Order: sequence, then C-alpha cells, then structure tokens
Amino acid sequence: MRSKFLIVAILGVLVGGLSALLVDPNARRALLGSGPPVSTGKALIGGPFSLIDQNGRRVSERDFIGRPMLVMFGFTTCPDVCPAGLQVLTAAIERLGDAGKAITPVFVSLDPERDTSPKLKDYLSSFHPSLVGLTGTTEEVAAAAKAYRVYFKKVADEKGIGYTIDHSSFYYLMDRTGVFVTHAPHSTSAEALAVRLKSVL
Ligand code: NI
Repeated sequence: MRSKFLIVAILGVLVGGLSALLVDPNARRALLGSGPPVSTGKALIGGPFSLIDQNGRRVSERDFIGRPMLVMFGFTTCPDVCPAGLQVLTAAIERLGDAGKAITPVFVSLDPERDTSPKLKDYLSSFHPSLVGLTGTTEEVAAAAKAYRVYFKKVADEKGIGYTIDHSSFYYLMDRTGVFVTHAPHSTSAEALAVRLKSVL
C-alpha cells in the first residue's frame, strides 16, 4: 500500500514539473537551457529619428541629449485621447514647479499629411509651452513610430469622407542620455506621471 502511495506522489511531482515547464518560459529555459531569452523589451524602445519641429527645423534624437524627454505620439485632429493626454502631460510637468523646466515634452505626429509644422505650432500652443511638436515625411514618421514601437493605422472615419488615425497611446520617458526609462498608459494621472518624471530629474 505504502509504495503505491509513493508512486502516485512521484508521478504527481513529475506531472506538476512538466506542466510548469510547458507554461512558464523562464522555467523551461532554466531547466532545458534552450530557447530565446525572455526579453523585457526595455532597451528596445527609442532610438534614432530625424523629424521637423513646429518651427520648421530638422531635429534628431541627438538634439535632446542632456535633457530628459517625455514623448507622446498622436495627431492634432484626434478627438479626445491626444488632447486629454497633452493636458495630463502639461499638468504633470507643472506639478514639478521649476524642476519641471528640465523636461522636454515631445509630441510626434502620426498624421504628417495634415500635421504641418505651423499646424503643430498652433495646436500645441494650448498646452505646455515647452512642448516640441515633430512631424516629417510619411517614412520619417513611420520610422520614429517603429523605433518607439507605436502602433498606428490610417482608417476611414465614420462618415467616410476623411480619415482618422488609430494609434496606441503611451507616454515614453527617456533619460538625459536618450535611454528609455519607462512608459505609462494614457490613463495615467498627472500626479502619477509627475512621480515618474521626478525619477529622471
Ligand atoms: Ni490620439
């Protein structure tokens, strides 16, 4: 009787271990020593870009070295997500007082067809005065979005006469050397965003 229980117990451990191997990639890797590393994706966000700012100047990621950057992607005719995000970004920087002046907030257009430099300049004047608006050619904008792993897609609007842009909406925080620190969903409060900004000051 006793050995039967023992066999059942050993089988139980084996089955449990095997299912852990099937479910958990880290356990599988640790035990089998194979398979691709499980990446956090941290270092894969950001990188080189070449775009035009709201004053018509060409800029690259090198122009921002020395200052932490808070980056957001969107488009000026976005009905609510982008304006709400820009309001939160503005409020978060304002919460930091004078220290907030060290941050460069950046809004990258995903709609270069309609978002010219003058249009960005006019649009951003409703938000934080430090905001840098960036646009460029379709290819340049696509390359910047790809570097930041931003999803966007042009879709016909409801009336079918124009188009709108579906896009992911995160804040990306880069440190003063241009290295990605963290990202936050657009639902983040100004208070919570300010805490993250403080971490790079
Ligand atoms: Ni938007």
